[in-house]
Amino acid sequence: MFNIFRKKSKQDAKLFYTTDVHSHILPGVDHGSQSVDESLEMLRAQLDMGITRVMCTSHVTAETFENTPETLTAAFNVLKKAIEEEGLPIEIYVSAEYRIDEYWNSEYEAGHVLPMPGNHVLLENSFVQELIGIDNMMFDLQVKGYRPILAHPERYRYYHDRRDRYKTLHNASVKFQVNILSLAGYFGGGARDRAVWLIQNNLCDMLGSDMHNMEHAEIIKDYIGSRDWHKLCEKYNLERRIINDKEFAPFLGQ
Ligand SMILES: [Fe+2]
Repeated sequence: MFNIFRKKSKQDAKLFYTTDVHSHILPGVDHGSQSVDESLEMLRAQLDMGITRVMCTSHVTAETFENTPETLTAAFNVLKKAIEEEGLPIEIYVSAEYRIDEYWNSEYEAGHVLPMPGNHVLLENSFVQELIGIDNMMFDLQVKGYRPILAHPERYRYYHDRRDRYKTLHNASVKFQVNILSLAGYFGGGARDRAVWLIQNNLCDMLGSDMHNMEHAEIIKDYIGSRDWHKLCEKYNLERRIINDKEFAPFLGQ
């Protein structure tokens, strides 16, 4: 019998934007997806949530994942072919999540940067301490024509008592991307509270899945079906304020 009070299933929960700016969906290049099949499963989960464009931002970090534009592009081409064979209605774009470290410094100096459409570059701070000179580097990136996006600012504990640093970086035209996983509480109460604080203070420009696996996908699906998410969207008018689609639309041929 038809039930108007039917609880929304996970399949019904859709995001209000269609572009995911942070994901680890490329197979076999970091500790995200480990196979093409796993990547396809993650992409189907993205489609379920209303995402039709995915920025593939695999890790580029010293010692652990010293990827290059060539290694990332090779994995991208394999996944792109599989998407076409499966007929999935989703577009992927190859880029990276660059950890600001000595490997980044040498790759950047050598010009080995793989930006997203529109020259956006997703950068990750160290989780231990803030890099000295990060402000100059963000400035230099912009002088060279890049648009820096700071990945999950809510996750850097050393900023929790230094909220002035958030404002300084954001005032210097660095876009901030908050993880939905953080809002869902996946990284603990501190990161969650800081994520909400960033939203409250107009310091959250974009949202990202930072999806590494299907466990992450399921957590995000559950969360965007929750009352908590809907209240947050409504209270802070996220649909109007989050620029995932607006920021990339001019560069994606639409
Ligand atoms: Fe990430």
